[in-house]
Amino acid sequence: MVKLLIELLGYLRESAPLLTSLAVLTLLLVLLAKSIKKHSGLYYTLFAIPFVLVALPSLGKLFGIEIAGFVRVPFLGEIIRDYIHMGAFGHPLLIIIMYIGALEVRRPTVKKLMSIRKEMSIISGFAVFAHSLIRVMNSVPGAFRFFANNEEYMANTKVVSTLGAGFSSFSFLLGVFMLILFIPLWVTSFDAVRKRMGHVKWKKLQKWSYVLYVTLFIHAMAIQIGGMLNPRGGQTPKPAIETTVAQEKTTNRQRETARPVTNERRGETAKSEENSRQSTSAVKPATNGRMPTKGFADIKLNSQTKGYIHMISLILIYGSYLFLRIRKAKR
Ligand code: HEM
Repeated sequence: MVKLLIELLGYLRESAPLLTSLAVLTLLLVLLAKSIKKHSGLYYTLFAIPFVLVALPSLGKLFGIEIAGFVRVPFLGEIIRDYIHMGAFGHPLLIIIMYIGALEVRRPTVKKLMSIRKEMSIISGFAVFAHSLIRVMNSVPGAFRFFANNEEYMANTKVVSTLGAGFSSFSFLLGVFMLILFIPLWVTSFDAVRKRMGHVKWKKLQKWSYVLYVTLFIHAMAIQIGGMLNPRGGQTPKPAIETTVAQEKTTNRQRETARPVTNERRGETAKSEENSRQSTSAVKPATNGRMPTKGFADIKLNSQTKGYIHMISLILIYGSYLFLRIRKAKR
């Protein structure tokens, strides 16, 4: 029974990573709410560590010091990768923060989560900054090139669809706008800043979070569409990609496929996904004259299907948020 549950969770994580991470993280946050509230400083320090480990090699580079990336360190490397890609941690956390604003606080679970909204916002910043740091260095220059000198860009990349590259490049530049939007919202999550600002000013600034939510949806959708239009190619010229932490080889295959599929990762995983491309289900060969029992691990989804599942997840999540938010505002 436990084995089946673990298998099911692994399968869900692989086929619908965002929804699964969202469910797991919500449960963990509800369980840990009291502890997070009580020991917020400790949690901030803990969640800041992966960000510092992402920032250190980049800072070192600026000063000409070579600091090895920490992504190869077992377990810690996985956490760092999750920070960088947003899919397993940063995005679900931002969604939870967004959602509780649209739900009725009377419900005990919502009340618990609402009590740690500020703490969650501060923690989400560490993932957002780690993500942005890597992406500004590795994806933004290519996006600028796409719009500034499209011919040169297309000649030097592996992308096949100009439209796909356009979607990706647009979403990367939108990311820069989102970062500019996110910083003041994040800084004003701290009590000291909030008090100095005064409630009225603070409330006014917080209205910008709705703009952030809209751009989050566009950012995620455009990245997904761009990735699906260019299933085999990267958006940036090779040398830039090769230095991306995102491209560090992972030994944990299951973890790798559980993250949202992006253009850069597609190249890495394309070979292994080739085998499952034709069909969505595969049955292991018979052993000892008997058919082996079919487990969740035997149901394979190709990257295109996963892409569609991810887009439907995004539409469901952001669509239902919009519905709930409007309903709450009307009351
Ligand atoms: C600074 C420029 C940015 C660039 C170039 C950028 C680029 C990307 C890329 C390439 C991905 C795909 C996942 C990956 O491989 O990392 C992604 C995903 C994501 N980004 Fe950004 N990003 C930027 C900033 C931001 C900011 C500031 C936020 C949030 C405030 C953000 C939120 C997200 C989220 C939530 C996802 C996951 C989407 C999903 O689950 O489908 N990004 N971004």
